[in-house]
Amino acid sequence: MSSSLNIGIAGLGTVGSGVIELFANNLEHINKRTGKFLKLTSVSAKDKSKKRNININDFVWYDDPCDMAASEDIDVFVELIGGSDGIPKKSVEIALSSGKHVVTANKALIATHGFELSKIAELNSSLLNFEASVAGGIPIIKSLKESLAGNKLNKIYGILNGTCNFILTQMEKTGKPFAEVLREAQKLGYAESDPSFDINGTDTAHKLAVLSALMMGIPPNFSSIRIEGIESIRSEDIAYSKKLGFCIKLLGIVLKKDRGYIQRVHPCMIPVTSSISRIDDVKNAIFVEGNFIGPLVLEGLGAGSGPTASAVVSDLIDISKGNFIPPFGCSLENKNNIEKIDTERFGPWYIRLEVIDKPGVLAEIAAELKNQSVSIESVLQRGRAPGECVSLIITTHETNEKNFKNAMEKIKKLNALTEPPCMIRIENF
Ligand SMILES: NC(=O)c1ccc[n+]([C@@H]2O[C@H](COP(=O)([O-])OP(=O)(O)OC[C@H]3O[C@@H](n4cnc5c(N)ncnc54)[C@H](OP(=O)(O)O)[C@@H]3O)[C@@H](O)[C@H]2O)c1
Repeated sequence: MSSSLNIGIAGLGTVGSGVIELFANNLEHINKRTGKFLKLTSVSAKDKSKKRNININDFVWYDDPCDMAASEDIDVFVELIGGSDGIPKKSVEIALSSGKHVVTANKALIATHGFELSKIAELNSSLLNFEASVAGGIPIIKSLKESLAGNKLNKIYGILNGTCNFILTQMEKTGKPFAEVLREAQKLGYAESDPSFDINGTDTAHKLAVLSALMMGIPPNFSSIRIEGIESIRSEDIAYSKKLGFCIKLLGIVLKKDRGYIQRVHPCMIPVTSSISRIDDVKNAIFVEGNFIGPLVLEGLGAGSGPTASAVVSDLIDISKGNFIPPFGCSLENKNNIEKIDTERFGPWYIRLEVIDKPGVLAEIAAELKNQSVSIESVLQRGRAPGECVSLIITTHETNEKNFKNAMEKIKKLNALTEPPCMIRIENF
């Protein structure tokens, strides 16, 4: 063994404890592969006295992760705290500025500050690796930076949030409403006590920002992503989508066009025959298309202690082997200047309208759609309840998003509507 690589871990929660457990089980196996002795020397978390299911007695304890990041005793600082700002950001800046390598699982940090952090890394010849930040155990970052580097990629889309996929899958399998399935997900540990970032699409958008940056060699651009979550999906929508031959998935999508790129996160109805529709429960899947590789799918567990720890350790192994690849695949001077374009999507839609069952309502709705050149593909009204509320399901042919939204603004104002419409994009993935 040539020499050792001293590692300090900040954050001993789900991921941090998983990394310590992985080392405890597989260290000999890892060291044989790296030819260098990977040594966990130091740890930091919020509360030293907290009862943990891992033994941390052999490690030097730091109350403040920033002190550990500055310490001469470590070569690599592993940030597993979470959050885009505050101590995680500060400690990573300190570690990089003092010439240490950094490994993080923090998608919020990379999506929001990845570019400025990569500048500090480049300036100090440090590595900044973040394999665990997207899709847990799926080696998508390494694939984009290395294995697919010879390709021009024009499309990445995927199921990037296990919590949402679990909720949508269970709603489909059991017919239970969103709130009930969310409670079950929380009981099973698949959703946080505050699940907002998962269900409102923010978590997926953080990951998409990282993937887009790697795909196109640009700085991550999280703030410009259009985000819609799954909060407004009802069990009726799942049931109707099934009838129409679709299932509903929350997707992160990035498309490279001639004039720029499009990034969006929203629920999609996709044909039940497509391969993405069979990705169930907490699983993640990423679909990539390159000009020489063609279509490629990577699927697996996108979260959890084991898969995420596996990704963190793969970054540490890369560092120990001296695998020096810039954070976003190419050095900053070679970064691309590609514009985000707000080209409106051209595609079909599903609409659920809760309306008073009275003559002429369908004609009013059809007229507003026609006024904006939106062509109806199918209409479904279940049951008959004169004077009461019924669901009206409409699917459209391919249409310009701007026209569609204009028509829907008018439809929302019709007296017959009893609640805001539910609108879901139909994608032919
Ligand atoms: N969980 C997953 O499956 C998963 C998957 C992919 C990526 N990630 C990412 O991995 C990171 C960690 O996630 P996690 O699920 O392991 O989080 P977690 O279970 O909530 O653990 C967070 C850890 O950070 C420590 N901490 C919090 N504030 C601190 C502070 N001010 N100073 C020092 N330590 C502090 C906590 O200390 P105490 O233990 O003392 O409270 C805890 O050990 C996040 O960026 C997350 O997005 C997680």
